[in-house]
Amino acid sequence: MLESTQTIKEQFSLLLDKAASTAELESLKVEFLGKKGKIAALMNELKALPADRKREAGQVINQTKQLIEQRLHEKTEELAMREEQRLIEAAESYDESLPTELSLGSYHPITLIQREVEQIFASMGFYVEDYDEVVDDYHCFEALNIPKHHPARDMQDTYYLDNGQLLKTHTSAAQNYIMRKYGAPVRAIFPGRCFRNESTDACHENTFFQLEGIMIDRNISISNLIYFMKTMLSEVFRQDITVRLRPGFFPFVEPGFELDIRCTICGGAGCPSCKNSGWLELCPCGMIHPNVLTAGGIDPEEYTGFAFGLGLTRLAMMKYGIKDIRVLNSGNLRALSQFIDA
Ligand code: DAH
Repeated sequence: MLESTQTIKEQFSLLLDKAASTAELESLKVEFLGKKGKIAALMNELKALPADRKREAGQVINQTKQLIEQRLHEKTEELAMREEQRLIEAAESYDESLPTELSLGSYHPITLIQREVEQIFASMGFYVEDYDEVVDDYHCFEALNIPKHHPARDMQDTYYLDNGQLLKTHTSAAQNYIMRKYGAPVRAIFPGRCFRNESTDACHENTFFQLEGIMIDRNISISNLIYFMKTMLSEVFRQDITVRLRPGFFPFVEPGFELDIRCTICGGAGCPSCKNSGWLELCPCGMIHPNVLTAGGIDPEEYTGFAFGLGLTRLAMMKYGIKDIRVLNSGNLRALSQFIDA
């Protein structure tokens, strides 16, 4: 019996030293002091002892029990103190000046304006289409009534690839593909990234975005073109926009126009943004040339249509008041993250 209490004490000491949490202390308590614990088992053995040894053995067991209780209590206190200390240290090392707000990502202004224009046109029944950035000469020029050696090719400093293909210089490159895909009648817009070998300044970039659109049906006229452009621009600028058409030359439209909008900043009175003219040049457009319809497999005797090539980058700059186009491709998060979906 005495030996057993000695072994129990040793076992307990070993386990107690290792215990590092109140949960572990709790299970030690159950193991040694619980109803089915080691001390209780000794007490049971006590019954079998002759009366003269019972008293002495009982005392030893009780002392062992008290010792275990005492040491469990001490260790519980010790752990509690350590935890308190840990919390104080954690609180002291907390730096209140650290930023606590998580910074969320934001959309690029081009993405914002593109989505907005897409939604507006989609609500007017236009398909939204995607097209390649690497295209062939046929789609970028020839199908658009710009034959080889045509002087209009000089308007675009094209990046040619070694394999004879090229980086799309304008979104018009998708016109033929869309006509072939849907036939007539069709209304579709196709935004895209374009590339031209331009030297860059505040207004020019070698990489920029356009959003092209075509609408082909029977009896489409210039008034349809004006209606759709006016509606779209009034929604984008959240005000009634006045537009005007000036003649412009593009081989793939006849007649071709430059579409201007009345300056949204001065209302037409003249200001630095519109170079005192009261108008802002925004979007070349026109009635699709019969040759382009024919190349797209559409009979120009039966169908007519309009096309426009909205400068998406320019539109974003106007809407968000961005003065230097280079900011858009800069990857400068401080500048780019300030635009929100209005
Ligand atoms: N593709 C022309 C350019 O980038 C812009 C253009 C002009 C597109 C007239 C059109 C259009 O659809 O009708 O210079």
